[in-house]
Amino acid sequence: MFRQILLAACTLAAASGYASPRAVAPSRSALATTHRATPLMAAADDGFVPDMERRVIMNALLVGATAVPGLWLAGGYAYFFAPPGSAAGGGGVTAHDALGDDVTVEKWLATHPAGDRKLVEGLKGDATYLIVTPDKKIETYALNAVCTHLGCVVPWNAAQQKFICPCHGSQYDSTGKVVRGPAPLSLALAHVNGDSGKVVLSTWTETDFRTGLAPWWK
Ligand code: FES
Repeated sequence: MFRQILLAACTLAAASGYASPRAVAPSRSALATTHRATPLMAAADDGFVPDMERRVIMNALLVGATAVPGLWLAGGYAYFFAPPGSAAGGGGVTAHDALGDDVTVEKWLATHPAGDRKLVEGLKGDATYLIVTPDKKIETYALNAVCTHLGCVVPWNAAQQKFICPCHGSQYDSTGKVVRGPAPLSLALAHVNGDSGKVVLSTWTETDFRTGLAPWWK
């Protein structure tokens, strides 16, 4: 009885194909279908990269996105180190008054008496003295007001006709030449030019007429 049941089961399985090797192994045609090369693989074999145009566009966008802020930062960096003040002919800068306005020769002389020494914004933004001569002209040189000791701004003392530093007592005569320490050097000079109607300051590169020495501020 048991043998008959086993025989019947084997017959049934054979009829359904369950135990046949042909049922578990893919046919030749099925293999061909499974491993048929896709268009992408075929293209790669030919050395052609699909979507290259899209890659180029994306790379261009990436470069642009990084270059614009980079250039913007570089421009700001360069602007930071540019000397302040409006540019003028000959490489000088126009002096500015306390309100930030350009200093004009006519207006300055109309409001400042002979012998006057008042501050303007000069080269590199430094406080700088304009001098009005006894015959009511703007002197051809200006004085940087920064003390050569430790950098305090030195006020003009009209009563003593000297610049006297409030920090450590250094003194400079009316031309800015140091006459008493601890300041080691005279006040820096700048050229003054009013030909355009505006007061234009430029770097003094010649010999210091007060000392006969080369300018220390170059
Ligand atoms: S900073 Fe002027 S004397 Fe020291």
